[in-house]
Amino acid sequence: MTHLLILGGTTEANALAKAVAERGIPATYSYAGRVENPRPQPLPVRVGGFGGVEGLARYLRDHAVTHVVDATHPFAAQMSGNAVNACREAGVTLAALTRPAWTAQEGDNWRHVADIDGAVAALSGAPQRVFLAVGRMHLEDFAAQPQHHYLLRLVDEPDALSLPNCDVVVARGPFSEENDRALLQRLGIELVVSKNAGGTGARAKLDAARALGVPVLMIDRPALPQRTELSNVAQVLDWLDHSGVNLGV
Ligand SMILES: NC(=O)c1ccc[n+]([C@@H]2O[C@H](COP(=O)([O-])OP(=O)(O)OC[C@H]3O[C@@H](n4cnc5c(N)ncnc54)[C@H](OP(=O)(O)O)[C@@H]3O)[C@@H](O)[C@H]2O)c1
Repeated sequence: MTHLLILGGTTEANALAKAVAERGIPATYSYAGRVENPRPQPLPVRVGGFGGVEGLARYLRDHAVTHVVDATHPFAAQMSGNAVNACREAGVTLAALTRPAWTAQEGDNWRHVADIDGAVAALSGAPQRVFLAVGRMHLEDFAAQPQHHYLLRLVDEPDALSLPNCDVVVARGPFSEENDRALLQRLGIELVVSKNAGGTGARAKLDAARALGVPVLMIDRPALPQRTELSNVAQVLDWLDHSGVNLGV
C-alpha cells in the first residue's frame, strides 16, 4: 500500500499535492509550522518538526511511508539533509522536487554572497534603503547593520523586530513585476537582498530591480546532499509510476 509523504511549504509542493490528490494517491503533506495560517491542502496535513533524522525515520516507519518527495524550499537545507538520512535509515524511496536557481540576465546588477553571514557583512557601509527579502527566520542577523532603512515583506505580521528602521509589508506571493516595481519606487529602494530561491513566484522583485537599475545582493544556495532531483510535477508522477505506485486516472 502506497503512502507518499510530501515535505512542503512551497508553491511546487502545493502543485504536487493537487496532482496527487486528483489521482487519489494516498499521501500526507507536511508543514514545518512557520506561518500562522498555512494554505489548506487537498491532502491530510501534519504540522511541525519530526525531531531530526531519528524522529523522521520513526515517523516513516510508524506511518508506513513508502515514498518521500522533498519539495521544501532550496534554503531548507537542514530538512533536506535529514530527509536523505532518514529515508536511507528507514529504507524509503526519496526524490526531491527542485527548481533551477535564478541566473542574472542582461541588465541585472547582482553581487553574489555565499550565505546570510556574507549578506550581513556586505551591508556594512553607508545607510541605504534596502529591500530585505530573506523571509522571517534570519532578520535578527541584520540587526548587526542597523544603519539601513529596511523594507520587509512577510507572510505574518511580526511580533517584535530587532531592526530599528523598517517598513513591513504583510503579503503572500506570488508577486507581479508591476506591483514590485511600484513598491520599490514608492519606498525609494536602493538595494534588494534576495535568496536565490528560483521559481516564478518570488522573482518579480528581481525583474523590478532590473527595470529600475537597482542592484541586488544575491545569497547563493546552500549545498544540498546528493539525491534524485526532479524539476516538475509531471516528472514526480512519472517517478512514482516507475516505482510501482498506482496513479489512478
Ligand atoms: N528557508 C526559506 O527561505 C523558506 C522559504 C519559503 C518556504 N520555506 C519553507 O519553510 C519550511 C521551513 O524552512 P527552513 O528553512 O526553516 O527549514 P530548515 O532550516 O531546513 O529546517 C529546520 C527544521 O524545521 C523542520 N522542518 C522544516 N521543513 C519541514 C517540513 N516541511 N515539515 C516538517 N518539518 C519541517 C525540521 O525539524 P525537525 O528536525 O524537528 O524535523 C527541520 O530540521 C520548509 O517547509 C520550507 O519549504 C522556507
